[in-house]
Amino acid sequence: MEFSELLKKRRTVRRFKQVQVFDKDIRAMLEAARLAACGANVQKLRYIVVRDKQLVKDIFDNTAWAGMVAPHRTPEWGKNAPLTFIVVITPKDVGGIMQANAGAAIQSMEFAAAEAGLGTCWIGAYKKDNVDRLLDLPAPQETLYLLAVGYPDEEPVAEDIDPEGSMKYYLDADDVLHVPKLKIDAITEWR
Ligand SMILES: Cc1cc2nc3c(=O)[nH]c(=O)nc-3n(C[C@H](O)[C@H](O)[C@H](O)COP(=O)(O)O)c2cc1C
Repeated sequence: MEFSELLKKRRTVRRFKQVQVFDKDIRAMLEAARLAACGANVQKLRYIVVRDKQLVKDIFDNTAWAGMVAPHRTPEWGKNAPLTFIVVITPKDVGGIMQANAGAAIQSMEFAAAEAGLGTCWIGAYKKDNVDRLLDLPAPQETLYLLAVGYPDEEPVAEDIDPEGSMKYYLDADDVLHVPKLKIDAITEWR
């Protein structure tokens, strides 16, 4: 798939088919993460692939989804919830650069997932202390973000908006999620 197509295809997905993803596709995502840009190339991020059903559920119970259209894109366990999480781990107290490193890695994983026909939801709104405890992380480590992964059971669409448009994503009458994106000229100054 052309990268320009992938850019459009990669939309955050919050409804998943109840089919487990292949190891090879998770590995393709991890390959994208490990090759991502990284400040000073420190490579301190670590990943836990969670597929144990009970652990996935316990983590899922600590997550929050699509606040702008809640509760309409909060997945239901056993119906359309993710069956896999990739948990992004960092050593504690390393500072803001780890946020940037995680961003580069997660975005890369999202594109690799989209190329494999998978959908992802990057999750920052979760009960971190609970999830850290559930994963039994050693003290020098903490979770930074979660990435839900699975076969998409919805097809959100991006749409271009001018600066005066609303940035709130929304559901249309057919229950399709629309994600407004500001046009280039609304976000760019050339000097
Ligand atoms: C740092 C970060 C944290 C996010 N946290 C959540 C979250 O906790 N729950 C959720 O449903 N979506 C979350 N998202 C997904 C955003 O809502 C989504 O990227 C945004 O609506 C734009 O849609 P798009 O990814 O399809 O372009 C997060 C995205 C980012 C980059």
